Amino acid sequence: MKKYNWDNLSKTDMIELMSTDDKLLLQRLYDEAYKVKIKYVGNTVYFRGLVEFSNICTKDCLYCGIRKGNDKVERYCLSKEDILKSAKWAYDNKYASFVLQSGERTDEEFVSFVEDVLYEIKNRYGLGVTLSLGEETRETYRRWRKAGASRYLLRIESSNPEIYKLIHPEDCDFQARLQAIEDLRAEDYQVGTGVMIGLPAQTAEDLVNDILFFKEHDIDMIGMGPYIVHHDTPMASMMKDYDPKHQLELGLKMIALTRLYLKDVNIASTTALQTLDYLGRERGLLAGANICMPVVYESENRKNYLLYDNKPALTETSEENMKAFEKSIHRIGENIGYGVMGNSPHYKKRKEDNNG
Ligand code: 5AD
Repeated sequence: MKKYNWDNLSKTDMIELMSTDDKLLLQRLYDEAYKVKIKYVGNTVYFRGLVEFSNICTKDCLYCGIRKGNDKVERYCLSKEDILKSAKWAYDNKYASFVLQSGERTDEEFVSFVEDVLYEIKNRYGLGVTLSLGEETRETYRRWRKAGASRYLLRIESSNPEIYKLIHPEDCDFQARLQAIEDLRAEDYQVGTGVMIGLPAQTAEDLVNDILFFKEHDIDMIGMGPYIVHHDTPMASMMKDYDPKHQLELGLKMIALTRLYLKDVNIASTTALQTLDYLGRERGLLAGANICMPVVYESENRKNYLLYDNKPALTETSEENMKAFEKSIHRIGENIGYGVMGNSPHYKKRKEDNNG
């Protein structure tokens, strides 16, 4: 086996590792990434309680099950009280933070609804809130930040503008996406981004470039997962040799290489991994991830928030879901950081550097 300098991989090394199907080498990659995870972020997993509060979306992304053009989807928006009930549940159960995700809307009714919910969460529970609501104006980011959100997830989806173009409609602009990420940073959010893994025309080098992109943009948190087909989307027909096993493996390689290269960031073990393998969540954590996002709302509407096919655990209660996560985490000998915010060491260091 070729000797790698695991602490300091070159771009060529990373492309090789991203392309390999040598089982022994892959296991070595995951083990090395796990060591780096233990050294820099430890073996404590932090929970982010997730509420997908609306599937109403003004965008028409070619891969996404809740795209505007999918008229088979029954649309919903949870009430403020329902969202607050979930926030209370997350607070009572000592989840480190709370994530609000929905389809993308920029109308004032939506912006002020979110603002109002954020103020209520701040006043009632003082929970750390992460938003995952897509591209907005800088002014909107500012309002939501002021109302209490402290983190924002906005995936770049692919750092290759050609791929970005291929998987989005005309009105989605790569530069605008980049600008939104810059705006979030300027408005003092902890910034999360990520990509979809295993997209059409995406090469091993593209994926490695995604990791370089995270570094270049000084990203604090990463949420990325394998692309999974949704049967009612235009991209389903673009995936000629789609192989779920291959998608899973690519997803794990990306986590491991991102951990090895960025070291001190937070990385989520996403639902997309769990969708492809019933041990996907554990495998993600063992390859270097340290964050989980259990769903904390109970609603008939969970079945209407399907970004891709075969999404698991659509009817579990928040309690059952928490237990399932606890079981996976304990099975691999890790702990859960209840009652702790779990900011990434990378973020803490950036703050210290800026203050000093
Ligand atoms: N497969 C995997 N991930 C998807 N997302 C949307 N559709 C899919 C899909 N078919 C991801 C996007 C988006 C996030 C909320 O969900 O990366 O940013």
